[in-house]
Amino acid sequence: MSNLGPGAATQVANAAKADATRRQGEASHPQSSAWVSANAGSGKTHVLAQRVIRLLLSGTPPGRILCLTYTKAAAANMANRVLDILGRWVGLSDAALNAELARIDDRPPNGDLRARARRLFAAALETPGGLKIQTIHAFCGGLLHRFPFEAGVAAGFSELDDAGRLDLMARIRAELIVEATGTPAGRLGQALAALIETLSDAGVDALLEAAVDARALIEPLGGDADARRAAVARVLGVAPEETPERVRRDMLASPHLVRSEWASIAACLREGAKTDQALGEQLALAAVASSEAEALPAYLGVFLTDKYEPRAASRFLTKGLRGLYPELCDRLDAEKERIIGLLDRLRAAETLARTDAALTLGAEACRRYAREKAQRGLLDFDDLIGRTAELLNRVPASWVHFKLDRGIDHVLVDEAQDTSPEQWKVVEGLIADFFSGEGAREGLTRTLFVVGDEKQSIFSFQGADPRTFGDMHARFAGAAGPKDFRNVRLPHSFRSAPGVLEAVDRIFA
Ligand SMILES: Nc1ncnc2c1ncn2[C@@H]1O[C@H](COP(=O)(O)OP(=O)(O)O)[C@@H](O)[C@H]1O
Ligand SMILES: [Mg+2]
Repeated sequence: MSNLGPGAATQVANAAKADATRRQGEASHPQSSAWVSANAGSGKTHVLAQRVIRLLLSGTPPGRILCLTYTKAAAANMANRVLDILGRWVGLSDAALNAELARIDDRPPNGDLRARARRLFAAALETPGGLKIQTIHAFCGGLLHRFPFEAGVAAGFSELDDAGRLDLMARIRAELIVEATGTPAGRLGQALAALIETLSDAGVDALLEAAVDARALIEPLGGDADARRAAVARVLGVAPEETPERVRRDMLASPHLVRSEWASIAACLREGAKTDQALGEQLALAAVASSEAEALPAYLGVFLTDKYEPRAASRFLTKGLRGLYPELCDRLDAEKERIIGLLDRLRAAETLARTDAALTLGAEACRRYAREKAQRGLLDFDDLIGRTAELLNRVPASWVHFKLDRGIDHVLVDEAQDTSPEQWKVVEGLIADFFSGEGAREGLTRTLFVVGDEKQSIFSFQGADPRTFGDMHARFAGAAGPKDFRNVRLPHSFRSAPGVLEAVDRIFA
């Protein structure tokens, strides 16, 4: 390190920053589509804001730019970044504005450009026709409100927001539980009873919540409870009529060790060594049990450990005992094998019972949720996305763009790692003719710009998957074909603490 002189760490850092800024400039070039995958703090939102501004400076009407993201916070962040800069420009001196313009754009600033730059703030805020920076849900809601007939939604529908959904779920949950506990012999009552053994009240709440979240998977299973159970049984490889009770009964009904012989067999085991004696104790306990429920754990204890794992061969029947009672020991070995086989069946039967119960309650919660929404003309967030994706993929993109004021020519997506596959369908629908056909008219550049951090997906529960991000990149790059579609990485973090660099420099000063 002796070749590092005073301030060297800062110099190295400045060089890295300069390189990062150059890459950012490449990514924000408004004539080329681009895909940016980079860590938090590398300046992705910064680049997006710069790109919007460069588009505006180059004469793109604000209304033709659409910025989308998943959360309201991220949408507000995008809007603030753009408007902060444009707002500041309004009051800058010519010299100061020239310096800013030179930093952001590669054209030499002149009077025309400065005049345009100063008008952008007002133009961006204009409605209609202003800049669209929205959550993807808000965009979809707006689109559906404009074309309810084409989208097949109730005209004047309301959006079910998070608070509304919480209310609705609380009511559905309360009604379901009152009904289930009121009719314990009914399907709902039995389902709740089956779950309450292993789930707390909070667990039941979470289950209903998860079911409504997963309604796209649950609803297609249909309303027929028997068919649903049969489908689960098929996956588990058990008969649909299988129950844990049946398997437990079979466990106690051994063809090898008839129950009336248990006491005498226990006596034989007690003649052996210590480990044999312990098995004898278990069997004796089972023999005197006053109920099946009491007998079963004792009986299983002969063959299985406390953890319900098969006893090791070395801990099951000693050589001495095998010499003494060879035929009995063979029967005990055979019984052990039979019990091990039944244990798998028991686990499958328990899984079937619990899954069936969970699906019974879950499907009912989904049914009521859908009914409430239909009755009250509500669309939830998933509906907004799903209906829009469906609309965009049914009608030609040119039709939608024709109907959307003057159309959208530039789509920018921030925090794209949080975009779910359904949401990607919306983006795909919007840009369907950006690169080909009528939409890619002579002289008009239409671009897609996506920034995200594949390592940072916080919404895996809503269907976003780090792999989706990479897959979508490949798809869009493929759709762009020979059109310029830049793949940019931003390896530098602008958030790394400058204090550390200063400390390094002080040491070498
Ligand atoms: N080229 C740059 N020069 C100076 N600061 C930058 C540059 N690019 C980004 N920053 C700053 O770095 C921080 C992180 O940028 P941001 O765009 O929020 O990153 P990301 O969206 O990748 O998390 C912000 O404070 C931003 O202003
Ligand atoms: Mg960001």
